[in-house]
Amino acid sequence: MTRIVVLISGNGSNLAALLAAEDAAARRTVAVLSNRDAAGLAHARRCNLPTHVVKPRRGESREDYDTRIDAALAPYDPQLIVLAGFMRILSAGFVARHAGRLVNIHPSLLPKYRGLNVHQRVLDAGDAESGASVHFVTSELDAGPVLIQASVPVLADDDEAALSARIHKAEHRIYPAAVELIAAGRAHAESGSIWLDDTPLTAPLQARFDQHGVLIAWPQQLTD
Ligand code: GRF
Repeated sequence: MTRIVVLISGNGSNLAALLAAEDAAARRTVAVLSNRDAAGLAHARRCNLPTHVVKPRRGESREDYDTRIDAALAPYDPQLIVLAGFMRILSAGFVARHAGRLVNIHPSLLPKYRGLNVHQRVLDAGDAESGASVHFVTSELDAGPVLIQASVPVLADDDEAALSARIHKAEHRIYPAAVELIAAGRAHAESGSIWLDDTPLTAPLQARFDQHGVLIAWPQQLTD
């Protein structure tokens, strides 16, 4: 059983999706950590999970803050750290200490739109599709190798909220599936590439969703 700690900063809807799919899974979320009093912590508490809020201190360096995150994580000895809307950039030291055991979900079709305000940037650019990417974390922001992507159409009358809601639905399908692939030992990162079932992945796995966020295509490798 792979021990997981999930890091959040917001509503925790991805956390909820991960937990909902955990019963028959190869993983267990053993704690939830946040950098603030995030709304999503309430869900963790309802699930009787230990929660930790590690708030940044005034003038504290990124490294010192991340050392305190490590101290909070240590008792759980996590084999995988899952970032689910954790709104802090992690220091290079933290990323190195957990290399290959740190994953994130980003609400764009990486490598497009790294960083913040993704949905508005997609709308401003007039893109016909957007989505989300699950990737291993490296020291370069939102640039680690991508395991799976979900694409959704962008509609002419979309605003940020509508696009974000559609992408969230897709995230809730791909993130548990991706975390499970890693937890079950089917996928791992090695020298900047992802291996799936002992074969290097030449492109991210692809799932497609329609305008309602309904699944229309699922990666063949994930159907059993
Ligand atoms: C998601 O859109 C995720 O892609 C991004 O942060 C958001 C978290 O949403 N990294 P939630 O807190 O899981 O609802």
